[in-house]
Amino acid sequence: MPSAIAARELTKEYKGSHGKRALDRVTLDIQRGEIFGLIGRNGAGKTTFLRIAGTQLLPTAGHVEVLGYDAVSQANAVRDRVAVIPQESRPFFYATPFEHVYYYLTLRGFPAAEARKRALDTLGRLGLLKGKDTVLWKQSGGLRRRVLVAMALASNAELLFLDEPTTGLDALARRDVWTAVEEAAKEGRTILLTTHYLEEAQLLSTHLAILNEGRVLAVGTLDELVAKVQWPFRVALTGRGFTADETASYGQSAAIGDSQIVFTTQGGAEELTRLALTRGVRAVAGPVTLEDLFVQLVGGAVDEETEGEEEEGA
Ligand SMILES: Nc1ncnc2c1ncn2[C@@H]1O[C@H](COP(=O)(O)OP(=O)(O)OP(=O)(O)O)[C@@H](O)[C@H]1O
Ligand SMILES: [Mg+2]
Repeated sequence: MPSAIAARELTKEYKGSHGKRALDRVTLDIQRGEIFGLIGRNGAGKTTFLRIAGTQLLPTAGHVEVLGYDAVSQANAVRDRVAVIPQESRPFFYATPFEHVYYYLTLRGFPAAEARKRALDTLGRLGLLKGKDTVLWKQSGGLRRRVLVAMALASNAELLFLDEPTTGLDALARRDVWTAVEEAAKEGRTILLTTHYLEEAQLLSTHLAILNEGRVLAVGTLDELVAKVQWPFRVALTGRGFTADETASYGQSAAIGDSQIVFTTQGGAEELTRLALTRGVRAVAGPVTLEDLFVQLVGGAVDEETEGEEEEGA
């Protein structure tokens, strides 16, 4: 069976961008049934990638196959099989949550009774039953966002493109979305997710790719990404028991508020934790999180660019 997404040297240069590439020869494989997290800084090219794979935008060069179909020459076959939550989309304010999901499903060809059943079921899973018959202009921003998530999840699309689906959602609403996304993956559907909440990307994704300035900086499972960094452990020290020079000797350190975060090796983490205990400093040690990896990998790429320039101290 072909993979869910196979991008080859995918390149996008927007008109008038004077040679700057939003995507620069991106080659990426996303397998069926997985939740794939695409992360990167603002402007890294995530939305551009999703829009090209979702057939809303044409690439400048390269190609991408989606579920075995070419996203340019077989765009209709792709559209029948995917559902998209665009980053900037707004629902229709004068319709209710139920109407949004129900009519979307009938447009996708579901008979009325089944559309009704699926709509209610998905609204329930996302905690949206209470306000299901209240027009959206009377409801909150986070709820409107969740209605779009419900539309995509309620469909029978084999592949879902979720561009920052949980932006602006409260902690509990976000968890409802996570559960629903995981259930969709268990049903064998593929999810391509972008998010700036790296805890969310870490929790949900089976594989991750970090885009940076239009290029793939790293791709793999969380463990594979951890293996790429120089400092795979983190120690958080509370208080001022260590000087900056001291922590810097263990790896990479930064002061945040009243704490110091030190990225280091396993041996370094063990030693630093022991030393902290003897000094009465509170220390929490563990493997790096996705957010730590992001800071190391993307931060490292930024440092390389500005090499030779004076770095601002933390
Ligand atoms: N319609 C457009 N015309 C010209 N340039 C664009 C257009 N859309 C995006 N860009 C540029 O392409 C690059 C990638 O943008 P894109 O929206 O794909 O980034 P992103 O990773 O989704 O960022 P964010 O995290 O902020 O959503 C940016 O430099 C952006 O300015
Ligand atoms: Mg975006």
